[in-house]
Amino acid sequence: MFIRNAWYVAAWADELDERPLGRTILGEPVVLFRDANGQPAALQDFCKHRGAPLSAGRVTGAGLECGYHGLVYAGDGRCVRIPGQTHIPERAGTRSYPLVEKDACLWIWMGDAAAADPAEILDFPYHSDRKWPHKHTMYPVAGNATLLIDNLMDLTHLGYVHATTIGGNPSAHVDAKTDVKTTEHGVKFTRWLLDIPAAPTIRKAVPELGETIDRWQEFEFIAPACIVQWSGSVDANTGAYDKGKRDGGFQARLFHAITPETEASCHYFWSGANGYRIDDPQATEDLFSELCRAFDQDMAMIAAQQQRIATFGEDGLVNIVADASRVHMRRVLERMAAAERTPPREAATV
Ligand code: FES
Ligand SMILES: [Fe+2]
Repeated sequence: MFIRNAWYVAAWADELDERPLGRTILGEPVVLFRDANGQPAALQDFCKHRGAPLSAGRVTGAGLECGYHGLVYAGDGRCVRIPGQTHIPERAGTRSYPLVEKDACLWIWMGDAAAADPAEILDFPYHSDRKWPHKHTMYPVAGNATLLIDNLMDLTHLGYVHATTIGGNPSAHVDAKTDVKTTEHGVKFTRWLLDIPAAPTIRKAVPELGETIDRWQEFEFIAPACIVQWSGSVDANTGAYDKGKRDGGFQARLFHAITPETEASCHYFWSGANGYRIDDPQATEDLFSELCRAFDQDMAMIAAQQQRIATFGEDGLVNIVADASRVHMRRVLERMAAAERTPPREAATV
């Protein structure tokens, strides 16, 4: 079951060219397109004539034209043309979804349109900040969205899954000083790994770092689908942890948006921004390819987990100390799901 009354990333804004883009979101086929004015729109991917997928059609000056018999739909879902007749019944319109372009993303609202408030979309200004050049992509994931959020909320996996990339020593990750706080919209955790050798990715990015480093990872989960991350590393014992001196060294900001596709798959929109050699496009490229290597490692694990969970279920699984943030995150999701199940009148009396 999906949380519907929330903003999800449907696509990167630059994924939409002159062709329509079909994508299943929260179990529903959706078609995204830009109209003649460049305005993005999202419609149910279902022509109301004979049920053809509109994503197989083409964008015209008047709107999205079905590839079967030529009905044309405007961005608000109205049918605006039926070849061979002037009368256009209202019922020929298809469902449209609220869609907002912000911070390089197209955000969709799959629930009750009357409740959609664009002011609730999270801010991630780094996508258009020249001090944080970034690169982004979308990974199709063969696993439930919550498994991927789990993965991002428990970083003790870094020492095991990512030993050759962003990870490094497993015990450094397990022993990290971790602070977990609940927030208005989710959970935030900060981890400090002090006086440790740099992980391979960090050493490659900033070779001049000293033999050991102090490394931080700040992750904020904004329910139900996004995580923003700030990670950095500076020379060990130079006041990053106790005096807040976090300038220089290695700095990266990551954006993670996880949009369910089906109960067993999701779309992973992520970006990595380089805050350490901002005038060197190759550094941004290199960071991106290192992150690709690391996230490929995660994707393999999540697909394997999904298969086992499909067989054995999740009910007998055990939480360990390292799961603190993950458990908070799951509680927030459960509360949101419960609120959607509760009829509004009952909710008002609680
Ligand atoms: S099915 Fe779309 S126009 Fe006929
Ligand atoms: Fe990972």
